[in-house]
Amino acid sequence: MATILGIESSCDETAAAVVVDGRDVRSNIVASQVDLHRKYGGVVPEIASRAHIENMDAVVAEAMEVAKVSRCDIDAIAVTQNPGLIGSLLIGVTCAKTLAWYWNKPLLAVDHVLAHVYSPAIDGGPDVWPAIAMVVSGGHTSLYRVDDFETVERLGQTTDDAAGEAFDKVATILNLPYPGGPEIDRLAKRGDAKAVSFPRSMLGRESLDFSFSGLKTAVLYHVNGPGKTSGGLEKLTEQQIADIAASFQEAVVDVLVRKTLRALDRTGYANVALSGGVAANSRLRAKMQEACAERGASFFAAKIAYCQDNAAMIAALGEHLFRQGQTVTLELDASAR
Ligand code: KG4
Ligand code: ZN
Repeated sequence: MATILGIESSCDETAAAVVVDGRDVRSNIVASQVDLHRKYGGVVPEIASRAHIENMDAVVAEAMEVAKVSRCDIDAIAVTQNPGLIGSLLIGVTCAKTLAWYWNKPLLAVDHVLAHVYSPAIDGGPDVWPAIAMVVSGGHTSLYRVDDFETVERLGQTTDDAAGEAFDKVATILNLPYPGGPEIDRLAKRGDAKAVSFPRSMLGRESLDFSFSGLKTAVLYHVNGPGKTSGGLEKLTEQQIADIAASFQEAVVDVLVRKTLRALDRTGYANVALSGGVAANSRLRAKMQEACAERGASFFAAKIAYCQDNAAMIAALGEHLFRQGQTVTLELDASAR
């Protein structure tokens, strides 16, 4: 049984967690910077790294305190090494290296996207694999074939915007606050998903890739008129805006579900694992669950707390690497890609 301290700082959340055995989450502390970035309508890298510096020590201390552990109880330290904003990643990596050196503990380098992929297993355990894993976040929209976590093969990815990026950009078109995903999710509950028939880009019959930029442009022109980028929102009623949000969300969810089913067909797998910030979307969870049930496939969604960026998933995948003996040296460097 290994107790891992996880540290995450790849984007705009400063996070630390203590996880035992890859599944028992003793603490999961996230200091969100959303309020700092909201007025800019997106993450400002310089502000993010400064906030990580200011928050990191307290977040790690709180994770240890809530978990009721001291440094003697920690077997290894896992940190997000890539991908992300380089200035942000460096703060977490420097903190983890310093603690690993000072406490004399092994260090584990974790890939942020693979940690999202792994996150449904925090609650689902080993039964999740083998699975088709979908990661939908602000930076990524990818499908993977995961055997036992020794073999992880990417089957498809977005060719332009990530699903979360599309949610955030459409929220901006509808003048909703950042981050837009949760706002659209909430507004869509009052809207009619069949009100507007937005395009579903499938990229051909065989493709497992995604494209959301055409959909975003379709929403823009629907709101403002063909070829126009502003001036239309004021003319819409609240109900019409809710209808647009619901119809847009339905188009995204439709594509995500259909491609996941396509991947199940292609591989013959029987499990689906859903993760990433957009996996918190209520319509996506419901529709994926429904589609899997119809197929006789088992559906494992990451718990809502492990959908957004967090360090529990970093510690959980870190524990897997620890068991494989995949520790790294203090030469470790952050990587944006
Ligand atoms: O995984 P995450 O926290 O950060 C990245 O690694 O990107 O994902 C953040 C993204 C944002 O684009 C946000 O708008 C989206 O996840 N998101 C949602 C919901 N909650 C967060 N999108 C749709 N519906 C939601 N309920
Ligand atoms: Zn993420």
